[in-house]
Order: sequence, then structure tokens, then C-alpha cells
Amino acid sequence: MAMIAAKCPQYKVTVADINAQKIKAWQTEKLPIYEPGLLEVVKKALDRNLFFSTDIEGNIKTADIIFVSVNTPTKTYGGGAGKTADLQYWEKTARDIVRIAESDKIIIEKSTLPVRTAEAMERILNAKNKGIHFDVVSNPEFLAEGTAISDLENPDRVLIGSRETEKGRKAREEIVEIYANWVPRDRIITCDVWSAELSKLVANAFLAQRISSINSISALCEKTEADIKKVARAIGMDSRIGSKFLNASIGFGGSCFRKDILNLVYICERYGLHEVAQYWENVVKINEYQEGRFVQKMIHAMFNTIAHKRITLFGFAFKANTGDTRESPAIYVVRKLLEEHARVVITDPEALHNAEQDLKDSREYVEFETDPYKATQHAHAIAIMTEWELYKTLDYKKIFENMEKPAFLFDGRNILDHQKIHEIGFNVYPIGKSPLTHF
Ligand code: UDX
Repeated sequence: MAMIAAKCPQYKVTVADINAQKIKAWQTEKLPIYEPGLLEVVKKALDRNLFFSTDIEGNIKTADIIFVSVNTPTKTYGGGAGKTADLQYWEKTARDIVRIAESDKIIIEKSTLPVRTAEAMERILNAKNKGIHFDVVSNPEFLAEGTAISDLENPDRVLIGSRETEKGRKAREEIVEIYANWVPRDRIITCDVWSAELSKLVANAFLAQRISSINSISALCEKTEADIKKVARAIGMDSRIGSKFLNASIGFGGSCFRKDILNLVYICERYGLHEVAQYWENVVKINEYQEGRFVQKMIHAMFNTIAHKRITLFGFAFKANTGDTRESPAIYVVRKLLEEHARVVITDPEALHNAEQDLKDSREYVEFETDPYKATQHAHAIAIMTEWELYKTLDYKKIFENMEKPAFLFDGRNILDHQKIHEIGFNVYPIGKSPLTHF
């Protein structure tokens, strides 16, 4: 919304939320989320044509277009628990809109939702015969965290789906007009609502599948002395495969991949497509396998016991340049290490606050430390969880000197020069490459 406001001064954009604390924070220098470049964009439009408010009712009344961006977490209860999206917030919002609205509106489905949700929403919205009409348009968001501003400023494509009726097409055109203020027309694609909804799930499923594919091969490389980076480079240069998203890692995290794939799996099962469901579910299973393999490797390398050993995690965010820790592989790793009675220290430049929330129940066993040098004092091992630039430039010689010996380094992101780190004295365990040890 900040980007739309910044690019289109002729529109008045109001962000309405029930959380007063967040609404307040959006109007300060300390935004509620860390996203490089976001503050500048907000500042550009704040109080010009970008406003923040807790007045949901008043803003529903006055808006011509409503972007519904409420959360749709994975359902934790009843039918579809653990797989399908929980639509209660979306439906509540739709019902609020019907109750309060006094004029025709375009309702944009911005939250990622299972296919055919817009249809249900349209029924709820148009059920009460108040003499007003609602058009539901799907406009899925493809930005990735950490690169959100450049993704929004220069998107590969903007996708807008609507009903193929006269009114539907007219509503769609109004949304195209907004984006056309800065996105070239040929990158704004339109289609029916169901195709738009499904495209979002499928894009994320395909991206996650690449990571699971390369991670599955990383396991094979570790057994055969092949090097996953060399394999990824060689296959990525095939233009049909492409070089992006082939970094072997501890596994993918984030609020979207797991959730969206499970959503897709659930839809396939509902339609009786069990083989298709299984195919995609395996992308998630390989991710869990990769996380489990990483912890097993740590335990095995450290003489099959990590009880009372001090282990420092470099990074807790699910990827670099964000403070977001949702579905971060680091959460799983910490829990497993604690089960083995290790003493865990976590350091991260942006995610420590979220890490403390995620680990509320085991806070007394975990230390949180902003300074990576302090965090590694007397540690037996370092495990790199997040590919922050910062961790590439630390003085590993100094760190090594203050650690217990033998010192271990598990590079869950393959970001360090392993040869160099080995020469300093560490026993180094990358992903998808042979370990470099001193034994
Ligand atoms: C993703 C999609 O990219 C975006 O289009 C969609 O709108 C939302 O979901 P995001 O979750 O922000 O975005 O992060 P993304 O950059 O896709 O990374 C997801 C996870 O995969 C991270 O944990 C990342 O570290 C991991 N990853 C990514 C790898 O392990 N290897 C790679 O090569 C790339």
C-alpha cells in the first residue's frame, strides 16, 4: 500500500488495522517490520496520500476499493487441520464490509487463499440485498521479504484476476490502472479469478520445489564427495533450468512456502488427486528431512553428544535482510539441540526479538546475544542459520581463539570460504560438500 501511495499521488490510501500499536508504529521512524528501503517509501507518502488508522468502520464506508490483506494461517483445528488455510479472518472481514458498506466497492483479495475462495466471498458479499454491488478481484502478491521494495518497484509481473463479466472486467481494469502508474503494461497480466488464485500457490510450490530438489542432491553429494555448489552452477547454466534458487541450505522457511504447498496438497486431495497431492507433499517432506539431517550431522560430528555443550547459532531469521522468523529452520534446530541438552546461544542482527517470542517456553535454556563475538565465547560450535552478509566478514581467527577446542563450524548456508576457515583450525561441515576436519 505504501508503494501504491508513493507511486500514485492521485489516490488516497488508508491502511486500517485493529492493532493500534502497529498503526502508531507505522507513523514513526521505527516501523513494525524490518524491510530495507521501506521507511523511505512510507515517508514519501505519509500524511500526503498515505494514512494509517484504526477506524475500520469509517474507512470501509468511504473506500471505493478495499484490499483485504488479513492473515490466513494454516488451520490448526477441525477438517483440513495442518493443511488448509484458516479463513475465519477473511470471512469476518467480508461480513464487516457487507454490514457497513453503503456504496458499490471493489474488493481485492490480497491474502493468499485457496482456489475458489473469491467465489465464496462474493456470495457472502452479495447475499444481502442492500442494493449495492461488490466485485471481488484476486491480486496475489509475489514480493519476497528482504527484497520487497525492489520486487514491488520492478515486478516480473502483476497478476489481476476477475470474473469474465462486464462488471468484473471493469473492476479489473480499475486495478490495472493503479499499477500502470509505474509497471509497464505488458507486465500486468489479467485472467479469471481461479487462475490468479492458483498461480500464487503454484509459483510458491515451484520455487520451494527447486530448493527441495537441490537439497535432496546435497545429501547425495555429502556421500559421494561431489560438491553441491559445482553441481548447482553446472545445471544452472542450462538456460532451461536457470541459475536462481539453487542454493542448497538447511531448508526453506518463511510464512508462505510450507503453508501454500500444504494448501495445494489439500485442494488436490479434496478433488481425489492423491498422486498429485503426494507429489507436492514430498517437497515439504524433503525440507523436514534436510533440517533433521543437519542436526543429526552436528550431533554425530561432535562425538555423538552435545549435552551441556555451548552451541552458537549465527542467525535466526528465515533468510537474510528480514527480522521475520516464521517457519524459520532455526526454530526446529534450537528445539532439537535443546532436546539433546545443549546450551544454545542465538545471535541475529534483526530477529532477536522474534526469536525470544518463538522460544518463550524454553527461554531459560537459551541465551540471546547481539554481538557475535560475545556469543561465541567458550562455544564448542557455531551453526550458520541465516545468510546475513555480516557473517561473511567476521574475524574468524579471533572467534576461534575464544572457543572451546576442537571447534566446530556447521555452515547451513554455504556462505563461508570453507578452506580458509579450516586453515584457521575449525572442523568445518558445509551442506552438500565433504567436511574439512583435523582428525
Ligand atoms: C516467497 C516467494 O519468493 C514470494 O514470491 C512469495 O510472494 C512469498 O514467498 P519469501 O518467503 O519472502 O518469498 O522468501 P524467499 O526468498 O522465496 O525464500 C524462502 C526460503 O527459501 C528462505 O528460507 C530462503 O532462505 C530459502 N532459499 C531460497 C534457499 O534455501 N535456497 C535458495 O536458493 C533460495
